[in-house]
Amino acid sequence: MKSISKKLQDDLNKQITAEFESAYLYLSMADYLQTQNFDGMARWFRIQADEEREHAMKIHDFMIERTLTPELGEIKPPQHQWSDVKTVLEEAYQHECLVSDMIYDLVAQAMEDKDYASISFLQWFVDEQVEEESQTLTLLEKARLIGNDASGLMVLDQEMGSRKE
Ligand code: FEO
Repeated sequence: MKSISKKLQDDLNKQITAEFESAYLYLSMADYLQTQNFDGMARWFRIQADEEREHAMKIHDFMIERTLTPELGEIKPPQHQWSDVKTVLEEAYQHECLVSDMIYDLVAQAMEDKDYASISFLQWFVDEQVEEESQTLTLLEKARLIGNDASGLMVLDQEMGSRKE
């Protein structure tokens, strides 16, 4: 089996850490939203945090499959406070764009290495990021429209609370 280049190994390790950091960030956002009594939004972010842990484990398990030992990095503590719902969603969207850029860099490295197994594996993440960016942007745009309107925020809370696991 062709081995993964050292550069790509390092980047995959960083990506595992970044995915766990995403989980931490979204759990922290869920906790903040819970304190604001937005139970539905908190539920949405808790589910998102679970998804991020799954992303981390997907890369972790791919490395194991490729006979590598993942090196888990240090996880930065997340922010705990935001000024309002719109700010939370703004940051979640910016975060997803950042993660997309990291995934594209991984693909570029895998292509440079002619590592076709890694390119194929990473394709799932490319597709997933399209969905992740799109869903957070939709929520952000709704939050921008709603502003501080209480009834609008309650509707958004209900909508986000209906997210399936
Ligand atoms: Fe794992 Fe939301 O990117």
